[in-house]
Amino acid sequence: MTTAAHTDVTASPTAVGSGTAATDKFKNERVWADTPPERVAAIAKDALAALNQVILDHEVTYPEYRVLKQWLIDVGEGGEWPLFLDVFIEHSVEEVLAKSRKGTKGSIEGPYYIPGAPQLPSVATLPMRDEDRKVTPLVFSGQVTDLEGNGLAGAHVEIWHADDDGYYSQFAPHLPEWNLRGDIAVDDNGHYEITTIQPAPYQIPTDGPTGAFVAAQAAHPWRPAHLHLIVSAPGKSAVTTQLYFRGGEYVDDDVATATKPELILDPVAGEDGKNHVTYDFVLDPA
Ligand code: BEZ
Ligand code: FE
Repeated sequence: MTTAAHTDVTASPTAVGSGTAATDKFKNERVWADTPPERVAAIAKDALAALNQVILDHEVTYPEYRVLKQWLIDVGEGGEWPLFLDVFIEHSVEEVLAKSRKGTKGSIEGPYYIPGAPQLPSVATLPMRDEDRKVTPLVFSGQVTDLEGNGLAGAHVEIWHADDDGYYSQFAPHLPEWNLRGDIAVDDNGHYEITTIQPAPYQIPTDGPTGAFVAAQAAHPWRPAHLHLIVSAPGKSAVTTQLYFRGGEYVDDDVATATKPELILDPVAGEDGKNHVTYDFVLDPA
């Protein structure tokens, strides 16, 4: 494995920016967890024991150990810890949360959520550029309900996704601020209808240390095409999730291990030239 200093930095001019912007965004959130010292000690002990066992099992050498140190430095200096952790670790944290939920399955948030997207009515088109309009439109509709199937007035469907080139607004300087992002207020029965574009598979940035980590294993850096969503309602537990497309590339081989069978959409091509699909969200009590 090489370190980032030896990787190709010409592959994508915006990928490095994506990682750094994700770190800047994360640093502005003041994160905190109410974890007592005994729990910290137990987790730290097991984490170190697991890592030490890997070293013993694989007979890791001093040159490999030094490359690891350099790589850890590179990830920090490259601002890629949010990216790396959300690709390779977040799915397990989400799996822990999922054990306590009965409603719609969750999935990872990833590093590209931005709160405060434009507020849109229950029937809405996401902000997009003229060139986005050349991509197949996707009309995505459904209802937000409680566990008993009652429509939830006051619910919100926050949605964000990458454009056809795999870039997220606010993490790629050439895109308008809120491109392909919106916060939809459902109608009185919990219904919504969002017009956007069919997303494409997404490649995690390959030109930094996370990309070097993937390349050093001769693995691929792709996620299947997906929509990101946070669905919330007063008195309900919000769900952070993603939706994928049946038969799409990488649905069964996601670098971020974040797909679930319950989260696969089956869009139908309409005579209007648009893909149409429905999906209902079910929220647990708060
Ligand atoms: C995503 O966009 O879904 C994503 C990007 C990087 C890491 C994890 C998820
Ligand atoms: Fe994504």
